[in-house]
Amino acid sequence: SIVSPLLRTGYHFQPPRNWINDPNAPMYYKGWYHLFYQYNPKGAVWGNIVWAHSVSRDLINWIALEPAISPSIPSDQYGCWSGSATLLHDGTPAITYTGITRPNINYQVQNIAFPKNKSDPLLREWVKPAELNPIALPEGDINATQFRDPTTAWYADGHWRMLVGGVRGTRGLAFVYRSRDFRRWARAKHPLHSALTGMWECPDFFPVSGSGQEEGLDTSEAGAKYVLKSSLDLTRYDYYTVGSYDWRKDRYVPDDPAGDEHRRRYDYGNFYASKTFYDPAKRRRILWGWANESDSVPDDKAKDWAGIQAIPRKIWLDPSGKQLLQWPVEELEELRGKPVSVAGKVVKPGEHFEVTGLATYQADVEVSFEVSSLDRAEPFDPAYADDAQKLCGVKGADAKGGVGPFGLWVLASADLQEKTAVFFRVFKDGYGKPMVLMCTDPTKSSLSPDLYKPTFAGFVDTDISSGKITLRSLIDRSVVESFGAGGRTCILSRVYPSIAIGKDAHLYVFNNGEADIKVSHLTAWEMKKPLMNGA
Ligand code: FRU
Repeated sequence: SIVSPLLRTGYHFQPPRNWINDPNAPMYYKGWYHLFYQYNPKGAVWGNIVWAHSVSRDLINWIALEPAISPSIPSDQYGCWSGSATLLHDGTPAITYTGITRPNINYQVQNIAFPKNKSDPLLREWVKPAELNPIALPEGDINATQFRDPTTAWYADGHWRMLVGGVRGTRGLAFVYRSRDFRRWARAKHPLHSALTGMWECPDFFPVSGSGQEEGLDTSEAGAKYVLKSSLDLTRYDYYTVGSYDWRKDRYVPDDPAGDEHRRRYDYGNFYASKTFYDPAKRRRILWGWANESDSVPDDKAKDWAGIQAIPRKIWLDPSGKQLLQWPVEELEELRGKPVSVAGKVVKPGEHFEVTGLATYQADVEVSFEVSSLDRAEPFDPAYADDAQKLCGVKGADAKGGVGPFGLWVLASADLQEKTAVFFRVFKDGYGKPMVLMCTDPTKSSLSPDLYKPTFAGFVDTDISSGKITLRSLIDRSVVESFGAGGRTCILSRVYPSIAIGKDAHLYVFNNGEADIKVSHLTAWEMKKPLMNGA
């Protein structure tokens, strides 16, 4: 292969080879975390989709089992697409998923499967009752090729309810299906919600506890608020709103009246088709999301693998109640080696310093920055109000600023020919209020041709008036997964250095602004390799 094996991820979820996409039916059952995912057993491109299956005690070390769901009945003959798990009242898990029933045209129906043996904590075998399947057909006005990805169901007032993604014209929507017994399902007259966005793939809908409360809720518990997420086929990003839910009407309303236009993203980088689940063992809600490659298809084939899952993230409602906070599950910290720390170091305008004393190609870095003064913040051009990504495209890591750009150069070569920048830049709006932009700039990440190197960015809803802001970056050979301001804004990027590989990858702190930046505290850890599906 022309591609270095050293670019294969070390601690992100991945099978030994082949293509993967969406996480499916994550759940906790009898002491084990289960993750199923869309998988092509025959190669590193999308196709021949089955549900691969892995289990874990800690969400970090994974054991691969045989695929759990593969084409075997008329209603899934041509593919077993995405779906979810629901734990029934007696604790039995049920899986609902989309089946493709015709060759060449992706005619979609919804199916159900149950464990063959409920007492097997590994849930190795699944049965698809012939008398039940399919449980939902694209009848009436439903577009049969745009009807998929059933959610985890929730129970209220004698009925189970689940969502299925779809579209009507250009209106993306989530159909509601109801059932008394989880076996026979009927579509409700109205969708839970809809918006002018194009097709909704992989909807997700769940309750959250009150503002700032980290405790997760079971999907059937009543929430202080609810979150509705859809994966937009048109943009290939995951968007969510926070709102309220009326189970009498099975309607969801976003809190922000302009919510459907000003949706937030879980991640402003490469992160799609995500799904949450409730973890009763630690009373938290966990988010899984898929990150595909940014490499070319010939390179994917040469590597013989494509796609990873992001590190599972605990999610909860921010104290403002307006957005979610996300943080890598605490179990990830088991992989940390000996820490290297820097404290109270000032980085002057145009300066940088290297963090030495550890290998940084597979690392976890936490930094607290302190900006000396916000006086020099650049004026914010309102033309970019809805387009952080465009703004960062214009003002990348090398474009000198007032307050910032400052942050990390990761996976950098010693001569800085190659580097991926993860940084903040502070602007001032028309009222003098500071606005924070967070970016990942991979434009210098590699000398290799044919890579997709988009600049990714999001605004950070944080009060920086004290000058303080934090950044955490998970560096994993060809992954840079970053969490700004305690998980307010997240960006996952794939990069493929040609020199900054293995021990030749370096880590720096840089400041390209006019204001001094203090690294109040930085800690970096080398990350060990967990058990990863036998690879
Ligand atoms: C999202 C998606 C789903 C579908 C699956 C097929 O990435 O397109 O809508 O169920 O992938 O693999």
